[in-house]
Amino acid sequence: MYQFTLKTQIKGFDTFLEFAQAESLQASDLILTNEFIYEPFIKPAGVPCHILFQEKYGAGEPNDQMIDAIHADIPDGIERIIAVGGGTVIDIAKVLTFGGTWKAEELFTGRTVPEKCRRLTVLPTTCGTGSEVTNVTICELKSLQTKKGLALDAMYADEAVLIPELVRTLPYKFFATSSIDAMIHAVESFLSPKAIALSSTFSEKAIEMIVSGYRYVITHGAAHWTDKAAEFLTASNFAGIAFGYAGCAAVHALSYPLGGKYHIPHGEANQLMFAAVIRRYREKQPDGRLNALEALLGRVLETAPDQALDALYALMEQILQRKPLSAYGITEDEFPQFADSVIEGQQRLLNNNYTELTREDMIGIYRACNVI
Ligand SMILES: NC(=O)c1ccc[n+]([C@@H]2O[C@H](COP(=O)([O-])OP(=O)(O)OC[C@H]3O[C@@H](n4cnc5c(N)ncnc54)[C@H](O)[C@@H]3O)[C@@H](O)[C@H]2O)c1
Ligand SMILES: [Fe+2]
Repeated sequence: MYQFTLKTQIKGFDTFLEFAQAESLQASDLILTNEFIYEPFIKPAGVPCHILFQEKYGAGEPNDQMIDAIHADIPDGIERIIAVGGGTVIDIAKVLTFGGTWKAEELFTGRTVPEKCRRLTVLPTTCGTGSEVTNVTICELKSLQTKKGLALDAMYADEAVLIPELVRTLPYKFFATSSIDAMIHAVESFLSPKAIALSSTFSEKAIEMIVSGYRYVITHGAAHWTDKAAEFLTASNFAGIAFGYAGCAAVHALSYPLGGKYHIPHGEANQLMFAAVIRRYREKQPDGRLNALEALLGRVLETAPDQALDALYALMEQILQRKPLSAYGITEDEFPQFADSVIEGQQRLLNNNYTELTREDMIGIYRACNVI
C-alpha cells in the first residue's frame, strides 16, 4: 500500500511583482528574506508586510541560536510567514510557524512537539533544496557540533511559489552547490527503498533536467547558467517532491558532520561524499536498483550503463570541483567520531540507504574522500 500526497499548493509567476499583485499581501504577513533580495524585488512592490532580514541574525546556514533570536523578534499578530530565500531562510521559516514558547534545540532534539499556528508561503531563491515542498527542516545544533533534520507534517508549506527571476541573482558558487544538492536529492530518492513509480518519475525528470542544464553551462560558460534558471528551479522542485516522499540517505547523513563542525555549505558537503558513497554501494550490492540508475544515466549521458556513474561524477566535478577533506582542515582521526555521530543521530536518513553501511564502511567512505 502507498499514498502519495502533495500537501503544498504549487504556483508559478514570472516576477515577484506579479505574485504580490495576485496575492494581496497583508500587514499580518511576515516576510523573512535577505536584504539583497528585498531591495531589487520586494521593496519596489511596496508590500505592507513586516520584514525581517535573516543575515542580521548571523551568517551561514541555520543554527539554533539564529532561530531563537529570529523567533524572539516576531511581532504579535503575525498570521503567515512568507519565506523568500534559499534553504537557510526557508528552513528557519518552517519552525517560525510554530506557536507557544520553545527553543530550537528542544524542537530539533524532539523534546518539544510544537503546534503550527501560522500559515507558510515559500518562494525559493536557490535551485537546490526543494524545501518548499518537503516537511523537513535542518539546523546546526551548536552544542552537538552537527546538523540535525526534523521532519514533521506540520512543516509542509501551504504554498510554494516558483519565480525564476528570484533565482537569477544567485552567484555561480551557490548555483553550483544548490543544484548539486538537487541532483543528489534526485539520486538518493531514486535509490531509496521507499521509492515508488510516482516518486521515481520526479527523480528521473530532475536528473534529466539537471544533466541537460549542466551540459548547457559547460558548453556556454558558467555565467550562462542563468539562461536555465527556470529549468533548474523546476528540477529542484521535482527533486524535492521525490525525496519528500522517498527520502534522502547516506550521502546527506555522512555530510552532516562536515556541515555542522566545519560549516561547509550543504550542497558542497554532499558533493564531497557523493561519489564515495555510491561507489561503496556498488561494491557491496552491484545488482539491484542501482542498475536502474545506471541505465537511466546511460540514456541521459549517452554512455554505456557501466560507465554512466563515472560520467555523472565527472559532469558534477565540472560544475563544482571537489577538494580532499584535509583541505578543509579535517583530520583522519575525526572519521570514527563522524561515523559514530552519523549512526547516533542520522537514522532517519540511514533507513533509506540503498544497502546497509557499517561503521567501517562509513570510515572507509570518509577516507576515500581524502583521495581526489
Ligand atoms: N528542508 C529541506 O528539505 C532541505 C533540503 C536540502 C537542504 N536544506 C538546507 O538548506 C540549506 C542550504 O540552502 P541553499 O543551498 O539553498 O543555500 P542558502 O540558503 O544557505 O544560500 C546560499 C547563499 O546564497 C545566498 N542567496 C540565496 N539566494 C540568493 C539569490 N537569489 N541571490 C543572491 N544570493 C542568494 C544566501 O544568502 C547564502 O549566502 C542548508 O542549511 C541545508 O541543510 C534543507
Ligand atoms: Fe540536501
